[in-house]
Amino acid sequence: MKHLKNKTVWITGASSGIGEALAYAFAKQGAKLILTARNVGRLEEVQNKCLQHTDFCKVHAADLSNADLAQEFAQRVVKQEGKIDILINNAGRSTRSLAKETPLENDRQIMELNYFSPIALTKAVLPGMIAEQNGHIVAISSIVGKFGFPLRSSYSASKHAIQGYFESLRAELANDQVKVSIILPGRIQTDVSKNALTSSGQAHGKLDDGQANGMDAATCAHQIIKAIKADKREVLVGRKELLMVYIHKFFPFLYRRIVTKIKHT
Ligand SMILES: NC(=O)c1ccc[n+]([C@@H]2O[C@H](COP(=O)([O-])OP(=O)(O)OC[C@H]3O[C@@H](n4cnc5c(N)ncnc54)[C@H](OP(=O)(O)O)[C@@H]3O)[C@@H](O)[C@H]2O)c1
Repeated sequence: MKHLKNKTVWITGASSGIGEALAYAFAKQGAKLILTARNVGRLEEVQNKCLQHTDFCKVHAADLSNADLAQEFAQRVVKQEGKIDILINNAGRSTRSLAKETPLENDRQIMELNYFSPIALTKAVLPGMIAEQNGHIVAISSIVGKFGFPLRSSYSASKHAIQGYFESLRAELANDQVKVSIILPGRIQTDVSKNALTSSGQAHGKLDDGQANGMDAATCAHQIIKAIKADKREVLVGRKELLMVYIHKFFPFLYRRIVTKIKHT
């Protein structure tokens, strides 16, 4: 999708981090925006900034932690707003939790938000996109969608699931003018580590070194938009940490050595 002006772009997780940065970047391109997350106050702040660049920016707040409710919500949004040109499935939560200490309920929570809700939203927008033979679905995965990593068992699993689902969807849509892009960020400067789920059910609450020293969210958003405009199937976004994807693929013994030395704190 080369031109974004007047395209309707629905971004989940738009109240902070990558989603917020994406909202500003799309607004500057003249896109019409629909913003979703739970925090209405934050969404309205983002909306006000977007409205300095675009004349259409609506907030549809929702908790996406239950995919059945997310599906009902998505159907309401589509009914109200009409055709969505680009859906960015970005809302998500990481983990900082050893598998042996993680209650099953937490694993399920992560899958529900990071995997089932994005596919529920996708199912709601897909018929309109296929009917119009025009649309783009974007899944924000992670480099841990390509390899496992300590303290991220269910998070990594949810991003592997995203990889499998959206790769399959892309194959099914090969003869349609509906594009699918999977974005795999490395370490991006956001609150993702602070918000990560621990075994107790509380947020991790700490800014990890990886995020503190990562790529800034605006640069990440810029690279994601570039990938969307170029109809890229899959894009890694980050810095030297992206090397782990290649180490895992081509030097599995080295990958194992690195991940077994990671401190479990
Ligand atoms: N930052 C990184 O290093 C990194 C690396 C790889 C992948 N990613 C992925 O990038 C995406 C965005 O994360 P981020 O780094 O920007 O982190 P973030 O700042 O924590 O943003 C997460 C977003 O998701 C929303 N969200 C969380 N739980 C939700 C729920 N139950 N219902 C609806 N919305 C919810 C949050 O909004 P509310 O709290 O207002 O609901 C927020 O807008 C995630 O999918 C993450 O896995 C990030």
